[in-house]
Amino acid sequence: MGTPRDASRQYASADPLKVRIMTHRRYEERPIDLDAACAGIMQLADEASVLDVGTGPGGFLGYLRDRGHRGRLVGLDTSPAMLAEAERAWPDVTWVQGDVQSLAFGEGEFTWVTARHMLYHVPDLPRALGACARVGERFLAVTNSERSLPRIKELRQEMAARFGLAPREPSSFSAEDAPGILGSVFAVVRACTLENALVFSEPEPIAAYIASGFAPADVRAQPERYAEIRSWLTAQARRRLQELGGVWRDPKAVGVFACRR
Ligand SMILES: C[S@@+](CC[C@H](N)C(=O)[O-])C[C@H]1O[C@@H](n2cnc3c(N)ncnc32)[C@H](O)[C@@H]1O
Repeated sequence: MGTPRDASRQYASADPLKVRIMTHRRYEERPIDLDAACAGIMQLADEASVLDVGTGPGGFLGYLRDRGHRGRLVGLDTSPAMLAEAERAWPDVTWVQGDVQSLAFGEGEFTWVTARHMLYHVPDLPRALGACARVGERFLAVTNSERSLPRIKELRQEMAARFGLAPREPSSFSAEDAPGILGSVFAVVRACTLENALVFSEPEPIAAYIASGFAPADVRAQPERYAEIRSWLTAQARRRLQELGGVWRDPKAVGVFACRR
């Protein structure tokens, strides 16, 4: 989902990410609660501290706080818009602006460092993982499988070719690559894969999901162009839905990796 190059433009506003989060929640075939799955793997003791890097709108730490976790919780992100959103929802969690590649915390300061759906944005992955391994006793990474959402990826590539947009680059940290990359930093890497699918019967949410990936500096800042591409996406999604008999099912898989030095 994106590359280091477009990450800062893509996350200048929290709204597009919220569209994607809501699409996954609403159109998932099986309701899998990723926050609960991560918390179940982490088995946090009461006083355990968590640093969530690339925290976005802060949902994971908010989930922990809302369910009574009283240990220190710190959410870090490069995007001020994301942190403002997180602060509004959970003012009793600490939110800090920063880059995972240079973490200004002490050695072993946190029981866990978590990095959920963010490592594929980081330009220097070994540096980021080294920083996470230094400040945390344990590390949890979450990322998508390369096998995820083939129909959506195909339509996105067609849109890019038709409208002269940059094609999506392959992920630098997929669930398939993660064991090898994490294994070069951590002595123990335990993997768990959550299989699911998005299922749509209307074209609009498919178009909205794909359009949420536009960087604001290009397509979203040009209302006419945005409207033209969005309406093309909706028409294409509608045509494909008809070809598929009214049900667009796109399989997806998420890898969760619990690591120790
Ligand atoms: C796909 S969102 C994931 C948000 C959240 N972890 C979740 O799972 O919903 C990726 C987040 O990583 C942040 N990010 C990207 N590069 C970063 C970096 N180098 N250091 C810290 N945060 C970064 C983005 O601003 C964005 O909020």
